[in-house]
Amino acid sequence: MTVTGNLAVLGAQWGDEGKGKIVDLLSPAFAVVARSQGGHNAGHTVIVGGDEFILHLIPSGILHPGVTCVIGNGVVVDPAALFAEIDQLHARGLDTTGRLLVSSRAHVILPYHRDIEAAAESRLGAQRIGTTSRGIGPSYEHKAGRFGIRIGDLADGRPGGRLAGLIEANVGERNRTVAGPALDWRSVWQDAARVWERLAPLVTDTSRYLHDALEAGRPVLFEGAQGTMLDIDHGTYPYVTSSNATIGGVCTGLGVGPQAIGGVLGIVKAYTTRVGEGPFPTELDEAGAERLRAWGREYGASTGRPRRCGWFDAVGVLRVNGMTALAMTKLDVLDHLDELRICTGYRRGGEVLIDPPPTIDGLAACEPVYETLPGWAGAGRTAGVTDERDLPAAARAYLARLEALSGAPVAIISTGSDRGDTIVRRDSPVGRWLDAGAPAAGQAR
Ligand code: GDP
Ligand code: IMO
Ligand code: MG
Repeated sequence: MTVTGNLAVLGAQWGDEGKGKIVDLLSPAFAVVARSQGGHNAGHTVIVGGDEFILHLIPSGILHPGVTCVIGNGVVVDPAALFAEIDQLHARGLDTTGRLLVSSRAHVILPYHRDIEAAAESRLGAQRIGTTSRGIGPSYEHKAGRFGIRIGDLADGRPGGRLAGLIEANVGERNRTVAGPALDWRSVWQDAARVWERLAPLVTDTSRYLHDALEAGRPVLFEGAQGTMLDIDHGTYPYVTSSNATIGGVCTGLGVGPQAIGGVLGIVKAYTTRVGEGPFPTELDEAGAERLRAWGREYGASTGRPRRCGWFDAVGVLRVNGMTALAMTKLDVLDHLDELRICTGYRRGGEVLIDPPPTIDGLAACEPVYETLPGWAGAGRTAGVTDERDLPAAARAYLARLEALSGAPVAIISTGSDRGDTIVRRDSPVGRWLDAGAPAAGQAR
């Protein structure tokens, strides 16, 4: 496997695998970092020398002054959230001027999307999805329903114009379906029309921008949000997000061809977490989950919700994304355990499945099949290790087993939240490619 200039970095579980950390680490090797789906439901954490940055809409490459960041057509953009994120970065001395681009085709999230989502979640009661309440789902619903509002539509905020008409209709529909006080469409329209002045300099045809960058040989990193099991097609539907977090989303969400993707780096946590409702076969009981949650600080980067925790689930990690290499994060969180489990299949009735069943009822009927491996508590630690030779033997054995089950080489091992707490395997596809021109992991820049 060779990794050519452009790399997609995708979550391979239920999100929060540590994509932000890995994207930040790799960003200096790229000219452009582009997001293709999701919105500010994402929370991507980057920690540099103890300073924490949590990116929601803006790609995690933004911390590197030489990188241009692109928010593609497949992303749903809440202008207020975007401005708040830009302001926070500026307040911390990170200037995004001239290196943050937003697609004119991206759909917007306006306040009524959040109201529609809150009403839908409340209607579902115990069956609720447990969304991030950001209005993500309704914005994608409006897009698919062909009455969504795109970033480019904000340019014409005149009375009687297209934007006013769309907002009047959409708010009217919201008022018919959501209980409680009605929303005044005029005030929504006036607020929406006002954002254009600030937004305009960022807005462009990002598909054209990426095409030109690729033609010029400027390397592009495609940053995924969420993860495979939250993908609207391949995840645990309906307990998923409303976009394609798997590899196809990169092409549709940015308007680039598949040849542009030179390699697919899947990010996996050394165990599994999930935030929100829905099936989770390897979930631990509350006492076990609480230990991992405390050690791994497993609280949502966007909503602060406690994450559900469980053993590593090797079922379905790789297939749909064609991952060419893996980055394994949070190995250090397992330092405290005497024994580890890996789920290698799902038992349903008399058979063992190696693929997740397509329905949640089917999934609920599955029992995980576990392999047990020794832990390394008391025999060394992985926390902060930057040389693979310093890993305890049992940690190396655990990695080797996950690698064998996943079928893709582990290229990066993350042993702490800081940018520097990282092992890049120099003999891996990503390592060889970093050696060919990109700065080493942890190197100051
Ligand atoms: P993302 O959504 O995939 O970018 O991941 P999040 O940022 O939501 O969650 C990952 C969390 O784990 C963040 O708090 C990171 O700072 C942290 N993290 C990332 N890699 C490591 C690691 O190797 N060890 C530890 N202990 N924490 C890590
Ligand atoms: P990152 O990019 C983890 C989950 C929500 C909920 C479901 C639907 O940080 O990995 P939504 O608001 O998208 O309609 O919620 O998806 N979810 C995430 N879980 N990490 C994320 O993003 C998530 N984005 C959405 O908790 O279960
Ligand atoms: Mg996250």
